[in-house]
Amino acid sequence: METVAKVSEVPDFGKKVISVSGREILLVKVKGEIFAVENECPHQGSPMSAAVVKDGYIACPRHGFRFKLADGRCAEHPEFVLETFPVQLNEDDILIEIG
Ligand code: FES
Repeated sequence: METVAKVSEVPDFGKKVISVSGREILLVKVKGEIFAVENECPHQGSPMSAAVVKDGYIACPRHGFRFKLADGRCAEHPEFVLETFPVQLNEDDILIEIG
C-alpha cells in the first residue's frame, strides 16, 4: 500500500483525482469514508471526476451508468465494472493498493 493523499484534501461528498504509477485514480469521500476508483468509465471512457455521487453509488456523467462505490459493480449493466482499489486510512493519510 502506498500513501497517495491526505483525508483532509478530499472534501466530504467530494472528489480528488490523483495520479499513481501512471494511472488516474479518483478518491471519493462519503461521510468520512474514502473510496478509490479508476477515473475512467468502463463503458466508453468518460472521466468519472465529473460523476455524481449518491447513496453509495457513482453515476457516470455521460450515459448515467451507476457503479457501486464499494465494488464498482453496475446492477443495470453487469458486464461493465468500474475498477476499485483497497483503501486504508492512517490518521490523515490515505493509502491505496494498486494491483
Ligand atoms: S461512458 Fe460512462 S456510462 Fe457511458
